[in-house]
Amino acid sequence: MGNGAYRAAYEQSLSDPDGFWGEAATAIDWITVPPRVLDSDRPPFYRWFTGGTLNTCFNALDRHVAAGRGDQPALHYESPVTNTSETITYAALLDRVAHFAGALASLGVAKGDRVVIYMPMVPEAVVAMLACARLGAVHSVVFGGFAAAELAVRIEDAKPTVVVAASCGVEPTRVVEYKPLLDAALDRSSHKPESVIVLQRPQARAAVGERDTDWEELDWDELVADAEPADCVEVAATDPLYILYTSGTTGRPKGIVRDNGGHAVALRWSMGNVYGIGPGDTWFTASDVGWVVGHSYIVYAPLLSGATSVLYEGKPVGTPDAGAFWRVVAKYGVKAMFTAPTAYRAIKRDDPDGELMRTHDLTSLQTVFLAGERLDPDTYEWATQRLGVPVVDNWWQTETGWPIAANLRGLEPMPIKPGSPSVPTPGFDVRILGDRGQELATGEEGAICIRLPLPPGTLTTLWGDDDRYVSGYLSAFDGYYLTGDGGRVDEDGYLYVMGRTDDVLNVAGHRLSTGSIEAALAGHPAVAECAVIGVHDELKGQVPRALVVVKSGVDGAADGEQIRSELLRRVRDEVGAIASLQRVDIVTALPKTRSGKILRRTMREIADGQTPNVPGTIEDASVLETLTPVLRGPA
Ligand code: COA
Ligand code: AMP
Repeated sequence: MGNGAYRAAYEQSLSDPDGFWGEAATAIDWITVPPRVLDSDRPPFYRWFTGGTLNTCFNALDRHVAAGRGDQPALHYESPVTNTSETITYAALLDRVAHFAGALASLGVAKGDRVVIYMPMVPEAVVAMLACARLGAVHSVVFGGFAAAELAVRIEDAKPTVVVAASCGVEPTRVVEYKPLLDAALDRSSHKPESVIVLQRPQARAAVGERDTDWEELDWDELVADAEPADCVEVAATDPLYILYTSGTTGRPKGIVRDNGGHAVALRWSMGNVYGIGPGDTWFTASDVGWVVGHSYIVYAPLLSGATSVLYEGKPVGTPDAGAFWRVVAKYGVKAMFTAPTAYRAIKRDDPDGELMRTHDLTSLQTVFLAGERLDPDTYEWATQRLGVPVVDNWWQTETGWPIAANLRGLEPMPIKPGSPSVPTPGFDVRILGDRGQELATGEEGAICIRLPLPPGTLTTLWGDDDRYVSGYLSAFDGYYLTGDGGRVDEDGYLYVMGRTDDVLNVAGHRLSTGSIEAALAGHPAVAECAVIGVHDELKGQVPRALVVVKSGVDGAADGEQIRSELLRRVRDEVGAIASLQRVDIVTALPKTRSGKILRRTMREIADGQTPNVPGTIEDASVLETLTPVLRGPA
């Protein structure tokens, strides 16, 4: 099997990282070629390409235009929710980015300043990201499905000079006005940006400049009309390119910091070697720029590679039907596509026989990549049989920025085993560890860890919080990064990822924190305590369920209905509709250990019909007995 290219690359990446990544770095245009590759001067804070300088936007746009790709499409914007499509060439995208960068610069945005971007899947979101990169400013994109509380904590932490927002997002059944959410977030945040730029969309224009605010509100079009184009600013390879907040178990999100140099090198390498996409190819990632999959594989990797990227503002189903993806593939001649398994489960539900696939010419499509949550074998089989192309699972996280494990279609396609994302990607020294940090044997399930150093393109720290980076990821086992996922490796070296070992939720491929949903519930005056658990869902993989204890004096029986509906509303308003909370049970007590830790995992196991692991330290086992029929029973 295979030509040995994978094995050779993998071994070299670990035994000779300088040679391996030094070679990969030649695919990037540097201003100062890095004198060093791996910098181990300050473990566990490893750095890549120290001393090198570059500009990421130059690598994504200018150099392609200079090399003659100016007329090639960079983006195909396809928006069934607004009935719009638009193709933007590399030359046109460069022009828009340079002007918007000029506009940001005129507002005082300079190297190192943060810019929060709160926008749906519109080309201007990509323009804003690349404009920040052009100036050496640090963008932090917040997913449009997050509401005021989530947006506020991100603004508070990133302390942006400017916030760039759209007036609205367009969901299939409603227009979501962003501006009121942004205003509410800015009211809550003690940090106020100097300016807010609003992109007006015709579906719902926002009132700009009419509020009495601490910041200046500006209209995108007016600002850009007056702006001079800005040049690329030289940054260090180790300077931050972006912060992307992701959910931990607590309500406080973690600001994943990505650098410029390692990121450009790793993503360029992955596009060819993992996904088999090169210059001139058309690639379609159906995700959102607010998630890491969107950052890496809608924006940066395809553009760094001179490919054409489809920017899709719509859903897999309902916009207008389950043939939406196939229509895009046929229209643009897409060579490979990437999305989350949930999207395929939704298509399978609406079009089980794949009839809509047959009404489109899918001959261009060579591979389908799926990530973001576990790819269940049923969905894998369904997609493989219906499409007749390899369906490739790949496993990674916001923290790593690109796949930890994959079947490397460009480097060396390997046999696919359903249920496994295949093998560790070069650069990731994956180990399965037991409770005491001992390495487990083949087939044994344990904590999936990565021996340090992590490869280029992975997180360098948490924004403003080196200590939390070390305590959260590097302290469980000395010398290893803890992924938070459990799993095992088989006799062929294939990895099986079994799911999170902590309380992080994965709802429709979206990572959410139990803590932030609990914080929204706990803010209700009737709530004494609450717990949120992620239970199995056929479509979304997981959905949250809430268990709430009301304060004494509150009549949970009489007022239950009203409290429940107020709680559901609170979660939608604070966290966002994507939390997908539909069920709240009012209970008399929550099961805890003697030290007061709520047994979420045990409750989840009961709700999912598994045999629960009940810790010996449980405070009162009868609480769990009383709760079992509620957890197992119908809503
Ligand atoms: N802005 C505002 N609201 C949003 C939103 C956004 N960007 N994205 C989702 N929402 C809302 C939805 O409108 C929905 O609201 P509702 O409860 O009023 O109907 C709610 O959040 C839940 O959304 P979602 O989880 O997307 O469920 P759905 O039932 O609307 O759609 C799928 C189900 C499977 C079609 C959808 O989840 C999907 O496309 N999944 C693919 C996942 C994906 O791309 N993940 C990215 C990681 S790779
Ligand atoms: P995020 O940071 O939002 O990308 O979520 C990362 C988490 O999603 C991982 O830690 C896993 O729990 C889960 N995940 C992502 N991709 C996969 C996959 N291919 N198989 C199993 N779980 C996955």
